[in-house]
Amino acid sequence: MAITKAEFIVGAASLAQLPRDGLPEIALAGRSNVGKSSLLNRLTGRRSLARISKTPGKTRELNVYRLNDDLVVVDLPGYGFAKVPGELKRKWGALVESYLNERKVLAGIVHLVDARHPPTRDDVQMHEWIKHYRVAALIAATKADKIPRDRRAGSVKVIRDVLEPAPETEVLLFSSVTGDGADALWTWMRRVTRGG
Ligand code: GTP
Ligand code: MG
Repeated sequence: MAITKAEFIVGAASLAQLPRDGLPEIALAGRSNVGKSSLLNRLTGRRSLARISKTPGKTRELNVYRLNDDLVVVDLPGYGFAKVPGELKRKWGALVESYLNERKVLAGIVHLVDARHPPTRDDVQMHEWIKHYRVAALIAATKADKIPRDRRAGSVKVIRDVLEPAPETEVLLFSSVTGDGADALWTWMRRVTRGG
């Protein structure tokens, strides 16, 4: 069940550059700096598989990774970075929406939100798209290590109240520092990519 192999495949600037090997795919979506790359590194136990950005919002590509030769993870460009000009934001929206709409092998999406704060308007918009395109989703509440234990359940409740996910969508506390939530996340990824 462990991840024994993890490789970076391509930084795709458009959907046409994504792999055509037919492997089931999991996408990571979330605000810039929310911890998408860190989550992937934690999951694979590889410190520097995905680049941890010092400059939020820099990644404009769909970064594609293959795990265990049987599933693909696509790290989507982060959203909600204030300094990104309008034109880039439109391009980002068009790219991500067409990805959700057209990508046949997409089996599920991990939507990352910061456990420390209520979801932003951009988080709400992202989750609306996920619901609209009916993609199986798991919400990972990241940086859970930064909030006290007795506030974690409250944080999960706020996230549910604001994002209004589908009833079957779980909100999972996650920390790439402690590894909390990593096993449950991997179990979910295996399940949705196996079509069950
Ligand atoms: P973009 O690629 O810009 O969209 O950002 P990203 O979502 O990939 O975030 P990234 O993984 O680069 O992490 C951003 C910052 O948050 C880094 O300084 C990480 O070390 C930190 N970070 C990420 N996850 C966690 C976490 O679970 N706990 C703590 N304490 N810090 C985290
Ligand atoms: Mg990143």
